[in-house]
Amino acid sequence: MSTLGTSRQHILLPWTVQEREDPLLMLDRAEGVYFYDQQGRRYLDFLSQLFNCNLGHGNPRVIAAIQQQAARPCCVSPVLMTEERITLATELTRRTPGDLNKCLFVNSGSEADDQAFILARMVTGRPKIFAKYRSYHGTMLSGLGVGGDPRRAAIEPGPAGSVRFYDPFCYRCDFGKEYPSCQLHCFDALERQLQLENPSTVAAVIVEPVTGAAGGFPLPDGYLLRLRELCDKHGILLIADEVITGFGRTGAWFGVEHDGVVPDLMVLAKGLTSGYVPMGAVIVRDRIAEHFEKRMFPLGSTYAAHPLACAAAMACLEEYDHGGLIPHARRMGEALFAKLHGLAERHPCIGDVRGKGLLACLEIVRDRKTKAPLVPPNTDSLLPMQIRRRAWAEGLHVMPRGSLILLAPPLIVQPEHIDEAIDKLDRVLGWVEQTEKIC
Ligand SMILES: Cc1ncc(COP(=O)(O)O)c(C=O)c1O
Repeated sequence: MSTLGTSRQHILLPWTVQEREDPLLMLDRAEGVYFYDQQGRRYLDFLSQLFNCNLGHGNPRVIAAIQQQAARPCCVSPVLMTEERITLATELTRRTPGDLNKCLFVNSGSEADDQAFILARMVTGRPKIFAKYRSYHGTMLSGLGVGGDPRRAAIEPGPAGSVRFYDPFCYRCDFGKEYPSCQLHCFDALERQLQLENPSTVAAVIVEPVTGAAGGFPLPDGYLLRLRELCDKHGILLIADEVITGFGRTGAWFGVEHDGVVPDLMVLAKGLTSGYVPMGAVIVRDRIAEHFEKRMFPLGSTYAAHPLACAAAMACLEEYDHGGLIPHARRMGEALFAKLHGLAERHPCIGDVRGKGLLACLEIVRDRKTKAPLVPPNTDSLLPMQIRRRAWAEGLHVMPRGSLILLAPPLIVQPEHIDEAIDKLDRVLGWVEQTEKIC
């Protein structure tokens, strides 16, 4: 870690109280599942930077693709077509489920969510978007406003038409029920809420197949299927925010595949280019695309489908395939969860272990019986930052957030890396228990 007092002098750091961040970790180089700071200390990247570096660092195929593309035209208006754009759109939609056949390329997950909301409103002519309380749909006014993540405080009351509903969050059921005997009581509540809001005013419902930083929990079995049916019944569009869950993260190409559901719009970013170049996309079903065959499509941006991003994304798709990385992620996910459950047996501070594939979450509690959270919701606490620093001191990069510790290693992770992470986590959690007197 650097003690450069001036290193953040001209930069606003994301998601933090600025003065708390000294000293900053100064990344120097990175390779595979590791990165190194300027002092040469090694960190096991068990977060894929920010859930995005699915292929790990320094992937030769992706680097070569970007280098080769850099020698070809890179400044190409979005209204012109290139081989790279056509190839990527073709190859991407070959992998997306059902008739998710047409791509709108953008530059980030936030932009993709924002454009998905606009598309849904245009196609249905309806104003409202339904989103879960425990959800994050990006940093734009629209996504931050509709999602329930505490980061929304910055822009409350948010854009009109945003409606939030209770999550299918089984560890802390908002209705005091137990899964599966609840028979998805939370879904019945959503159905009633939809009626009260008047379904004919609702353009879309957005969900993450596995909630990322806002909760780290998968939708329970059967939920997404019922949501698909409910949306169909009322002509509401279903948006799957696969910004984190896409591209093998959950052990399938896309998170919705675990439930065999085809959303109307699928929002992608992160693993699309494995973080090597910024890119996001909204993939839409045929009937959405057809809407614009004879109507104006008013969206677009200067850097949409940038040739460098297209080249990186195409190389990533090839790498996921050739490396057999999707089934590998599934196998490694099983190994990771087995070890995490073992860790939970040794650590009373672990209240819950959950997630899917290589997207895992530990919920840290002060008391397993009462489930008293380490950090109550909407509370400003130094603890998550201290845990992050403790993990860095162990040479481990994870995401402590509120009472959660989120893990998302690159898909190239091997069993020995999982062992290394568990060993380091073991010590970090021991420190949490000791300092917070949890036993
Ligand atoms: C589920 C989800 N949607 C959207 C976003 C926003 O993506 P980006 O940071 O690329 O704008 C994120 C970012 O973490 C995310 O986790």
